[in-house]
Amino acid sequence: MAINYQERIPNNVDLGNDRALQRALEHWQPKFLDWWTDLGPEGFQAADVYLRTATSVDAAGWATFGKVKMPDYRWGIFLADPEQDRTIGFGDEFGKPAWQRVPGEHRSTLRRLIVTQGDTEPASVEQQRRLGLTCPSLYDLRNLFQVNVEEGRHLWAMVYLLHGYFGRDGREEAEELLHRHSGDADNPRILGTFNEPIDDWLSFFMFTYFTDRDGKYQLMSLAESAFDPLARTCRFMLTEESHHMFVGETGVTRVIRRALEMMSELKTDDPELLRRHGVVDLPTIQRYINFWFSSSLDLFGSEQSSNAAGYFANGIKGRPDEGRFEDHICTETVEAMEMPDDNGVISTVEVPTRNAMNEITREGYIRDCMVGLTRWNRTIKRAGFDIELTLPGRRFRRSIGSWANVPVDPQGNIISQADYESGLNEWLPTEADRAYIHSLMHQVTEPGKMAGWIAPPDRGINNQPVDYEYVEFH
Ligand SMILES: [Fe+2]
Ligand SMILES: [Fe+2]
Repeated sequence: MAINYQERIPNNVDLGNDRALQRALEHWQPKFLDWWTDLGPEGFQAADVYLRTATSVDAAGWATFGKVKMPDYRWGIFLADPEQDRTIGFGDEFGKPAWQRVPGEHRSTLRRLIVTQGDTEPASVEQQRRLGLTCPSLYDLRNLFQVNVEEGRHLWAMVYLLHGYFGRDGREEAEELLHRHSGDADNPRILGTFNEPIDDWLSFFMFTYFTDRDGKYQLMSLAESAFDPLARTCRFMLTEESHHMFVGETGVTRVIRRALEMMSELKTDDPELLRRHGVVDLPTIQRYINFWFSSSLDLFGSEQSSNAAGYFANGIKGRPDEGRFEDHICTETVEAMEMPDDNGVISTVEVPTRNAMNEITREGYIRDCMVGLTRWNRTIKRAGFDIELTLPGRRFRRSIGSWANVPVDPQGNIISQADYESGLNEWLPTEADRAYIHSLMHQVTEPGKMAGWIAPPDRGINNQPVDYEYVEFH
């Protein structure tokens, strides 16, 4: 269905024919804008930003580009086109018609999942709100704002479901999504990771590479849901999400490329010397990878989960790309997993497949994370350096699941608590690392110019040159 931009809330869900819903959302809209003004990007609300907006939901041509002030961005409700006679793809209801309404018995579970997903979207805008003040280039500033407005739209996507399908308690949850705030002592965001400020650009690139990719996998699982409006909403969100991970992957690539240039020029890989020349040494990048990858792994939940089994059995949440599996019922199979006991002895445990859904999703995520690492390592090798970036093992520094609080080194070996604690200084960003990264953060806003710690991108956005004026100040 075409997107209707004539209405106050752009949409492709025929909102004009549902007066009550339209009124409820129009009532929420000014509160959203107030939230954006108060907690959206600081200091740039009057700037003209070269942003893309959805014009249709098909993969071929969904985006149009133009300069807009962020508060005038056309946030709206866009669902992927319905699939005719779609049936449930997994679980006990396999093969039955997908749900167009919320079944009463799954109402609170679905509402909780939608609220949890919805809460992360504005949280990330809040976490990143001061980053513009230290952008390394106009190109990067524009990318940050593109990510931010799309996270705002993802909030709209979840609020539409809450308003449209969950009645009064859905409307109350939609209000709460604007009242909880990242890092707020009294009323924080739901998930821990989303309460940490992201105040340097290396962390932003790591977040968009590792944490937005967790988002991708959550959305892929929900895109399989028997609740069809949720599935269609998530399918369109995924097309937006891929730009966020592009920002992360190319961002880290450019930091590495700049480091390699300086390493070649100075003929050294000595971190101290490289820092004196204002670039980010590769061991520091490795420590940031260790930090962000391990904290993102926790977002998938426990290795064995009866909740996950219930979601799968009931058709609420499937596996990413459910279609690539042969068995969609999963009552007869097990997954082998290595787990520690209380004495630190590791044994192999067989977990019923339905209870292992979190781990199956996490595995897909880890494979996906490896793709960028392989590319980064190729870049390093091509520059003639014998250094390899790695992902720590999945057991490392976990706070959730079978490996929570088990002292494990990045290779996955159980070690003593004392060795673990002293090892963390080597494995994770230190205070000195963070102070150094912060010392590099200075705003660069001359078109085409880059901060000294990052290489320029290969190309601009939407075929514009790299030195295009992606953000105009007033
Ligand atoms: Fe999002
Ligand atoms: Fe995202």
